[in-house]
Amino acid sequence: MKEIIYTSPGGLDSIKIRDSDVPKPKNGEVLVKVEMGSVNHVDIWGRQDLPSQPFPRRFGSDAAGYVHDPNGTEFKEGDRVVLYPMDFCSSCRSCLSGFENACLSRKLYGVHEDGFFAEYVAVNAKNVIRIPENVSYEHAAALPVAYLTAWHGLVTRAGGKPGETLLILGGSGGVGVAALQIGRILGMQVYTTTSSKWKAEQLAKLGAKGVIEPGEKLQEEALKASNGVGFDVVFDALGGSYFQAAVKLAKKGGRVINMAMTAGPSTQLNLRDLYSNNISVYGLYLGTRKELSDMLNAISFGYFKPVIDSVYPFYEVDKAQKRMEDRAHLGKIMLKF
Ligand SMILES: NC(=O)c1ccc[n+]([C@@H]2O[C@H](COP(=O)([O-])OP(=O)(O)OC[C@H]3O[C@@H](n4cnc5c(N)ncnc54)[C@H](OP(=O)(O)O)[C@@H]3O)[C@@H](O)[C@H]2O)c1
Ligand SMILES: [Zn+2]
Repeated sequence: MKEIIYTSPGGLDSIKIRDSDVPKPKNGEVLVKVEMGSVNHVDIWGRQDLPSQPFPRRFGSDAAGYVHDPNGTEFKEGDRVVLYPMDFCSSCRSCLSGFENACLSRKLYGVHEDGFFAEYVAVNAKNVIRIPENVSYEHAAALPVAYLTAWHGLVTRAGGKPGETLLILGGSGGVGVAALQIGRILGMQVYTTTSSKWKAEQLAKLGAKGVIEPGEKLQEEALKASNGVGFDVVFDALGGSYFQAAVKLAKKGGRVINMAMTAGPSTQLNLRDLYSNNISVYGLYLGTRKELSDMLNAISFGYFKPVIDSVYPFYEVDKAQKRMEDRAHLGKIMLKF
């Protein structure tokens, strides 16, 4: 079979496709034939400079396919499944309360351990989740990192409500588009950002009430869009100085969500902006298995369809990553295995 690895930290040329043996599932593992994967920005961070990741390493955190060998688990051959992207212990207090994404010994597949970009992967059965009949591999594989994080933030943590206002910073990427769609399902009035004209038109078609350019006038324009009061929820998918803007753009009593540092790992914050405005801040690291199942149900019942930007054959994964680095995409970039 073929698998995709990073040979060493670096540029696109550190991506290699190599032949290897189909893995033999160990006790408690299921052998899955991967049909579809999807690209996340974390794939690129994991190639470039995330500290202390093993190399060479098979990458890829998003994958869906079918069970090839159930290996004595509760699955059947041919079951259509999506893979939960995190290794977790099942026994720490976070795991026992259903928050595997806060597991004390969690590891992200594809970054901290070998990932899912191979024709066949042996996966712990607890990471394997059945896909409803009417949900495609493409839509299922779009969910595990980007949509799951947006769902965890907006549904579970910040609890978006009908009629509330939501501002998304970094609105055209995988996570940003997911936040727009999930905000709409929750009945929120969604404002979002992009620096591109064609993406702005697409985001409006997806239900954004307003699209703002994330340049020098961001603060002014966004405040105007909120009638001068700020937003109930600000979803910051960019980080850096945008987090400072996010705090300033939340209304009194508002919530600010961050899960990214695309635009930088730190910023200055005047603490008065937090406490005097009663702001709640939520940091996100992915989401839970239950939330992944909840999203599959939401798609199955017709509430939304993940936005697919493009589909590349897996051996063109370098072109797929380049499209993301060039900021040429809107929504999810997929890989067909
Ligand atoms: N904590 C977690 O669990 C978690 C989970 C998922 C993702 N993330 C992080 O969230 C971020 C988004 O992930 P993704 O997969 O959605 O990435 P993505 O698709 O590459 O995001 C693209 C978006 O980011 C904007 N953007 C990119 N570089 C920018 C810059 N330098 N300044 C301003 N805007 C910029 C783009 O704006 P334009 O429209 O203007 O091009 C576009 O809206 C990444 O940093 C990722 O690592 C974290
Ligand atoms: Zn745990």
